[in-house]
Amino acid sequence: MNEYEQTTRELIRFIEKSPSSYHVIENFASLLKEHGFEALSENDGWELFPGHDYFVTRGQSSLIAFRVPEQAFENFQITAAHSDSPTFRIKENPEISVQSRYVQLNVEKYGGMLCAPWFDRPLSVAGRAMVRCGNVLESRLVNFDRDLCMIPSLAIHMNREANSGTDYKIQRDLLPLIGAEGSEGSFLSMIAEQLKVPENDILSYDLSLYNRVPGTIWGIRNEFFSCGKLDDLMCAWSAVTALMDGVNDRSICVAAIFDNEEVGSRTMQGADSTFLSDTLERISICLGKNHQEHLMAIASSFMISADNAHAVHPHFPEKSDPTNRPGMNHGPVIKFNAAQKYTSTAASAALFREICAAAGVPCQTFVNHSDMPGGSTLGNLANAHVSLHTVDIGMAQLAMHSPYETAGVKDTLYLVQALVTFYRTHVDCRDDAFTIG
Ligand code: CO
Repeated sequence: MNEYEQTTRELIRFIEKSPSSYHVIENFASLLKEHGFEALSENDGWELFPGHDYFVTRGQSSLIAFRVPEQAFENFQITAAHSDSPTFRIKENPEISVQSRYVQLNVEKYGGMLCAPWFDRPLSVAGRAMVRCGNVLESRLVNFDRDLCMIPSLAIHMNREANSGTDYKIQRDLLPLIGAEGSEGSFLSMIAEQLKVPENDILSYDLSLYNRVPGTIWGIRNEFFSCGKLDDLMCAWSAVTALMDGVNDRSICVAAIFDNEEVGSRTMQGADSTFLSDTLERISICLGKNHQEHLMAIASSFMISADNAHAVHPHFPEKSDPTNRPGMNHGPVIKFNAAQKYTSTAASAALFREICAAAGVPCQTFVNHSDMPGGSTLGNLANAHVSLHTVDIGMAQLAMHSPYETAGVKDTLYLVQALVTFYRTHVDCRDDAFTIG
């Protein structure tokens, strides 16, 4: 196995044990602790020491990790990505008996997903539940970690139009089958059994479906790999991995992983919250900067907003821009948009290109086809709370927002290498000139 495949396998292992954004953050937290990062709480006062590494979480599903240099810091060098992916959220009172034959789970959609690939594959349920422990309401992670439900297609014999495009209705078409008649009332008791608490102590939950199909590397030369949640765990895992390997003696290096990007980021822990601005300000205060010095640090800071990008599709090349056609295994993709849904400017793109060159990593560009609106991401939302020079990038992938996405085997290591170089290289941003090193 070469180094690219090794890194890809590590990413796949991480994704497979992280079936919800709560698990993503818990697994990042243990990884960071293993590497000597200390856990901070927003509820407590912080005392930060030079040469130490820290992380803080919000809402159990977002995390900001950072490394403090030995000497006084000048600015922040940040990578941001997201912990969530489109899925189906389990509603309250979830069980529905149908046709005296089946029990279904009542779900609603979380984010804008491709519906078709959710059919006819083993699914399970994960997230968290709130448990009453005396006068304390405790959050506990839940993962059934077994093939538990399935969304069955209607046979072609019963719908001859099935291959002519389907208008999926979530409430009619996408409710997963979880058991046969007689299994009503089991859902809460299964959670109780897993958490080893009485059923009536479970007060509520945040649970979602996830795809159980294992990730795999494939292709004539093992060029590609497929797995759930590549958008955006490919970038989130790379950011945290790079931070553990990248330290800077003049900048605070930061990896910020936000939940709820797929539903607009406007939650207490989303990119459109105060989480990043609060954390950066608190770091400055704890390390002795006054308000003006904090603003000076922000002004010279740089952020890489990393969220996956679309590779040119083999069947639909006309959907891509004619001159900017990202390919898998061709390195990070810088995203541009005239309407500024992406934060990249000539200045921030130029800096990122130089970083990739220094890392020996190829780099490419994405712009929407001019007649297609395209997606959005978290960089510009985070910028509304703490405004700093930012570039939007991502790794080229196919089938974005399917529960089984495809990307290039070389690209995870390319991104880790680019981000390690970014963290290790001091950059100083001024409106008319960026200084590297
Ligand atoms: Co994304």
